[in-house]
Parts: sequence; C-alpha cells; structure tokens
Amino acid sequence: MSHAHGPASPASSRSGNPLKGRVRVPGDKSISHRSMIFGLLAIGETRVEGLLEGDDVLRTAEACKALGAGITREAPGRWRIRGAGIGGLSEPAGILDFGNAGTGSRLMMGVAGSHPITATFDGDASLRKRPMRRILDPLAKMGVTVVSEAEGGRVPLTLRGPKETIPITYETPAASAQIKSAILLAGLNSPGRTTVIEREATRDHTERMLRHFGATVEVAPHGADGRAVTLQGQPELRGTDIVVPSDPSSAAFPLVAALITPGSDIVIEGVMMNPLRTGLITTLLEMGASIERLNERDEGGETVADLRVRHSRLSGVTVPAARAPAMIDEYPILAVAASFAQGTTRMQGLHELRVKESDRLAAVAAGLAEAGVEHEIEGDDLIVHGSSKVRGGGRPVATHLDHRIAMSFLVMGLASSEIMTVDDGAMIATSFPTFIPLMRELGATIHD
Ligand code: S3P
Repeated sequence: MSHAHGPASPASSRSGNPLKGRVRVPGDKSISHRSMIFGLLAIGETRVEGLLEGDDVLRTAEACKALGAGITREAPGRWRIRGAGIGGLSEPAGILDFGNAGTGSRLMMGVAGSHPITATFDGDASLRKRPMRRILDPLAKMGVTVVSEAEGGRVPLTLRGPKETIPITYETPAASAQIKSAILLAGLNSPGRTTVIEREATRDHTERMLRHFGATVEVAPHGADGRAVTLQGQPELRGTDIVVPSDPSSAAFPLVAALITPGSDIVIEGVMMNPLRTGLITTLLEMGASIERLNERDEGGETVADLRVRHSRLSGVTVPAARAPAMIDEYPILAVAASFAQGTTRMQGLHELRVKESDRLAAVAAGLAEAGVEHEIEGDDLIVHGSSKVRGGGRPVATHLDHRIAMSFLVMGLASSEIMTVDDGAMIATSFPTFIPLMRELGATIHD
C-alpha cells in the first residue's frame, strides 16, 4: 500500500502553434466511480463502456473487489462487474486504499458502512487532509460506528456497520454530491425511506443511476434552488449496461486552451451536457467565448454534444455563488481563462474549494502570483484582473497533489509569454491520464 506517490515529475508548457483538430476526452469520473459501485451492489452482471481508467477509479474498483465484486477488464474502457448485491458484501481482508480519491472514499463509506462488516479507509497525503466528518456525521445517525479515525475526522478511519441500517432524513450542511451520494448509498441497505435535502442542487448522477439499476427515487423541489431526494430502501438492483459519456470537467482543459491560444479551432467530441455540470460553459459564453454545441444526442441517458471551440476575446464577468455546484471543479481553469480576459472576473462563494484535493483557492492564487496575474481573495471570492498579455514564468507552480492545479497552469503556459512549469504532473493520471498526449495531438507544446 502506498501513501505517497512516486518522485515528483515536473512538467512545462510554452506558447506555439494554434490548437487544431478533433479529440475525445476520457469518460466522466463521477459516473465511472458510480459504475463500479452500482456494479458491486447489483445482482448479476453490469457491463461498462468508456470507463475512465484513471487512478482514482481504479482504486474504487479495487475496493469493490475487496467487498466481493468480480471485476474484469475486457478491453480499454470496457469492464464487466459481477455484483455481490445489497446486503451481500464481504468484509475486506485489508485496508481500502483510495489514493487521491475523495469521491471513491466517501461514496464507499456509505456502501461499506451500511453493512455489518468492518472496513478501514486510507489514502494519500492529500486525502489524509480532507474532511470526512461531513460523511461520518450522517452515517452515525444511520447506526454506523466510527471505530477509529485520524485527528479531526480524517482517514485512516475504520467503520463498523450496524446489523440494520436506520433510514434518515438529512439536510446536507454543504452543497456536495458526495455527501448526498454517501447517504443514499447507505440508504440502499436500510428498510424504509431515506431522504436527503440539499439547499442547492448538485450533480445528480447517483439519482440517475439508482433509477437505471431499478431503484425507486423521488425528487422534489426544495426552496428556490434545492431538492429533496427520497430513496425507497432495500430495492433489488439489477446489473445493467452503462455507457460513460466524456467528462466535461476534463474537456474544460482543451476547451480553455483553445479559447486563449490565438488561431485555435478545435472540436471536443461527445462531451456530457448534464445541466448540473455545465456551469463553466455558461460562464465562458457570458465572457464572449465561441463555443458551439453541435450534434446534440443522447448517450447512455445523458445529453452529449460535440463542442467546437475557437480562440476568442474574453471579457471579465461576475460568477454568482449559486452557480458553484454546477462548476465546482472548474474554477482553477476558469481562473486561467479570466487571466486572459479584458477586465475583472469575480468568482463568488468558493468556500468549498478549500477542501478539494488541495486548498484550491490558495493554490490557484499562488499560481497566478507566479505568472504575474493580478488577483485578490476577498472572503470566499476570487477576483482576477485579466489582460490580453499574461507574462507566465515564475517559479514552478506548487500543485499540492492536485491534478486540476497541474493541468490548469499547463494550459496557461500555452498562451503566456514565458514558459510555465508545474512542480509535479504525476497526479494528472488520477482523472485524465491522456491529458499530455491529447494536448500534443492538438498541437500544444508540453514537456514532461
Ligand atoms: C463529485 C462531487 C464533487 C466534485 C468531485 C466529484 C462526485 O465533490 O468536486 O470531483 O462525483 O460526486 P463535492 O461533493 O465534495 O462537492
């Protein structure tokens, strides 16, 4: 088991050619994790096409195996999962090591914690800093015992599930699909109705997949922007087929790269357009970006589109806090786009960014400072003063084991005057293992 990854591998990028061509980014990370998890909890076989084979998802697959799933890889992106079924999980023989994966670890706490087994969760130095109390508190109400935990409710931690999990009604304290999903997944093994109330709607992949596998889920509006999601417990989930659409959070990197690199004109194929994931595109359109949604179609229950993106003159905008759940992973790359925009971009209400793979608010600000981009943090807001000429250069940007910080500043280097370097590109493999070759295929100059 490893708590550290290998030696840091710096990477750098420089301006050069316009970006041209058609590419397809890998499968969506959220849906890929859930494909494994639902495969484990179903009776029979689940077949997955287009799975993201990044480290995070592979850790979730290992954990699902340790809990009793039979998992085989048949071809790139094509996996088969033989489920153990709700109530049928076995106690894992060893520690479940989730590496860098917040989503995998938190969702699996709901899965394992709702079964009468003992399971220990751990991860890398980044995961060991992330708050788990937000999952442990509702699970405790459902009867789960926290046998041990690292200081402040962090991993490594050990859970022991009750004989019978108690269904609850719970209002999440933060807009978080991970909290919602952990509770709903625990609710699967409890008799009765589990309700999660969220004041702001977050990504709904768990609800969609519950239905796809045969569970009964009711979704009702709650307040102006929220939802109440109710699950009928102990359904029989049946193995099924899943097609994983391309990840909009990965598409964000070539997309912004094309917007800021003069002369660029690219197409990113088959990107998932779930409205709870498209906040970045909404924002970039407001900034004046040329992004066309072509060939919209349904793939595996989600709308997907080919995105044609051309170099654009961007203008600063205010991004309201209410949009944060629909673009929570996209603020680092939006900050890069904002650096090249005319005027000021104010991104409001970013407190949740402080508890991602790194403190993303601080990490983005530090990277902007290295590149000579004027910016401020005011409370939970990030304010970026853009300019058509971004200097770049500076010392290597500290990525703090955060894939999205690494990719964001490599994108910045494609249009800045001086070369941009990040201290470690290794973590890119957690979510987008093909990032560097794909960007090179478009004509980008990136060295690793
Ligand atoms: C995810 C939810 C988000 C997001 C993460 C994936 C999910 O986290 O940042 O990358 O798949 O449910 P939060 O729920 O903590 O906001």
